[in-house]
Amino acid sequence: MSALKKICIVGSGNWGSAIAKIIGQNVRKSTQFDSTVKMWVYEEIINGRKLTDIINTDHENVKYLPGYKLPENVIAVPDITEASDGADIFVFVLPHQFIGRLCDEMKNRVKPGAIGISLIKGIDEGPDGLKLISHIIREKLGIEMSVLMGANIAKEVADEKFCETTIGSKNKTHGKILKELMQTPNFRITVVEECDTVEICGALKNIVAVGAGFCDGLGYGDNTKAAVIRLGLMEMLAFAKLFCQGPVTSATFLESCGIADLVTTCYGGRNRKVAEAFVKTGKAIEELEGEMLNGQKLQGPQTSAEVYNVLKQRNLVDKFPLFAAVYQICYQSRPVADIITCLQNHPEHM
Ligand SMILES: NC(=O)c1ccc[n+]([C@@H]2O[C@H](COP(=O)([O-])OP(=O)(O)OC[C@H]3O[C@@H](n4cnc5c(N)ncnc54)[C@H](O)[C@@H]3O)[C@@H](O)[C@H]2O)c1
Repeated sequence: MSALKKICIVGSGNWGSAIAKIIGQNVRKSTQFDSTVKMWVYEEIINGRKLTDIINTDHENVKYLPGYKLPENVIAVPDITEASDGADIFVFVLPHQFIGRLCDEMKNRVKPGAIGISLIKGIDEGPDGLKLISHIIREKLGIEMSVLMGANIAKEVADEKFCETTIGSKNKTHGKILKELMQTPNFRITVVEECDTVEICGALKNIVAVGAGFCDGLGYGDNTKAAVIRLGLMEMLAFAKLFCQGPVTSATFLESCGIADLVTTCYGGRNRKVAEAFVKTGKAIEELEGEMLNGQKLQGPQTSAEVYNVLKQRNLVDKFPLFAAVYQICYQSRPVADIITCLQNHPEHM
């Protein structure tokens, strides 16, 4: 790594822009980071202007985080090879469906010794089954990866409202560097070693949030939602134990990446919101995503499909009725009211 570590943020959506605000401020205060932060931006034209020009001139991502100024040392770059050139630390923060193609474009351009951290919540279903996003990045780019996941709704982080988050890093030195890069008085970071568990929590909680949104849409109350959260957490833990190769301890589920992120997503996140509208309007998930999210992407329904395929292959659908019901309701016309039946008959109660 260089004496002054250069940072490249790969992604610039709602969360990408909020974390860019923190990183841009932190690198100015630290003696170990280069003060210029490059941020790769998927180019779009907004009211006749390029989004990168808007960010570099007005210092605001008017599409994905309107109303918040980005530090002037965060430079938007539309070309991924130019953005990644010379970087020591990559912060990956874009919807998971785009990561494979982007890594292919970055391949062979990444400096030896560079490291990465993924803030991406999702998993990928490839020919060899499910893969964690950080594993895909590690394999494609040959860099050591950590992850950051937590109860971190981007707008609240941008508002500098207090929250906690979790970094999962097998390498203690990297964990320390990444904590210095991202921690603030209102964004408190705990570093744990069980990085796969941290990452899988971030992906699976979006499925549970869709279930919570269905219950909201059906007019059920907070007790029902608490049951969705608890049973969802049990399925998350069971799935993590099945799927992760390393250790999976319940202590990690008590960090911000576990129960805290699950609660906040089931009350405040976009997956819950769209799932509620799905019940109330009868429209398809993709249609609502387009109408309600202004270009932002939904993760829950897609993750439910990926998880369902794995459960089916392994003959385990019956053990994960909540995950399965979310998938079947989203994509197979199963009646939404079945979400309640699946809670009533959950194996936890048998
Ligand atoms: N928003 C949050 O509150 C939040 C909080 C924690 C984690 N996350 C996670 O962070 C990740 C990124 O989410 P976000 O909120 O920053 O993104 P977002 O959903 O707000 O924005 C979509 C992003 O995708 C980009 N994009 C659109 N089409 C593209 C294409 N064809 N190729 C490449 N990029 C394209 C857009 O430019 C934009 O930056 C997700 O995994 C999400 O789950 C989000």
